[in-house]
Amino acid sequence: MIDSLFNLARPLIHRLDAETAHRMTVAALAAAPRLSAPPDDSVLATQAFGLSFANPVGLAAGFDKHAEAIDGALGLGFGFVEVGGVTPLPQPGNPRPRVFRLLEDEAVINRYGLNSEGMEVVGQRLAARRGRGGIVGVNLGANKDSADRAADYATLTRRLAPVADFLTINVSSPNTPGLRDLQAEAALDDLVARALEARDEVSARSGRRTPMLIKIAPDLTLPELDGMVAVARRRAIDGMIVANTTIARPPSLRSSVRGETGGLSGRPLFKPSTQVLAQTFLRVERQFPLVGVGGVDSAASAFAKIRAGADLVQFYSAMVFHGPGLAQTIKTGLVAETRRAGAARLADLVGRDAEVIARGEGL
Ligand code: FNR
Repeated sequence: MIDSLFNLARPLIHRLDAETAHRMTVAALAAAPRLSAPPDDSVLATQAFGLSFANPVGLAAGFDKHAEAIDGALGLGFGFVEVGGVTPLPQPGNPRPRVFRLLEDEAVINRYGLNSEGMEVVGQRLAARRGRGGIVGVNLGANKDSADRAADYATLTRRLAPVADFLTINVSSPNTPGLRDLQAEAALDDLVARALEARDEVSARSGRRTPMLIKIAPDLTLPELDGMVAVARRRAIDGMIVANTTIARPPSLRSSVRGETGGLSGRPLFKPSTQVLAQTFLRVERQFPLVGVGGVDSAASAFAKIRAGADLVQFYSAMVFHGPGLAQTIKTGLVAETRRAGAARLADLVGRDAEVIARGEGL
């Protein structure tokens, strides 16, 4: 039903500029009466960072930046939703236009630059829906003009840990100049230490420990990845999200807007981000779970992320091209993949092909 409505509306939606179309989609989801997705098949149930997920398919950060449409998104069948990126103070982001559809490539380029209504507004929205259920994470970003960006993550943690099911340290958005420098080992170690200290202060008061994840770029060299995994393991981070958008422009891109500045997401990100995911899995040695994101647009691509080492998957760009019914379609396909593989639970297949995929094969 929802898919046929999307198919009817798609030509109209795609005639609008991408940001306007996106704002309208979020507003529609926020206003829609809460749909209730059918219960999930138990083969999809999984545990990660102390939380129980009915299914492993999540909505990636950037879709609901200001936490306006959480219940609408959960009603589409997602097992969890990550809102944000959220910055401590409100900030406008870059001038428009700042998001572009690459129709021929089923890809998106964005240079939003972490436009955010700020942590107060988002914190209040999250508090207002607390108790309604569903797993909701918050993606954290530093303010562009901040004098101490590492301190921003601690500030965000103090404000948002009490109202979030998990937090994500986003040091991988390509659209805030210098942000990705925080991925360097020494800078990351300091930042993570301060954020975890803030998290532990909140847990001591509330008795509830909010898992803290790190989201990395797909453009890291292997020595850089080694450094990030070393910090994450040493500091006992709860999980990693692999990966954010890429600054690379694969030669296969055909769309006329491929030269726009920003982060590329969607189908062309699938192979490189899945390879980095497998490389991360081999380094993490199951010390914490991974979330695979980048170019998921079908059950087959979601299953490949699981085989590469993801306990959970997320997508965003494919919503633009395949519509709001995609989470349901992917889940149905994942149940079939699990049965075909002869496994009792999808979670038993995590990392099965990591070695092959890490070498750039098997996708
Ligand atoms: C994003 N993404 C993103 N990631 C993040 O950590 N914080 C953010 O604020 C945003 N914002 C954002 C805006 C837009 C318009 C897009 C397309 C993407 C990245 C997103 O969460 C995801 O990591 C990548 O888009 C790759 O997944 P898909 O889109 O290929 O499924």
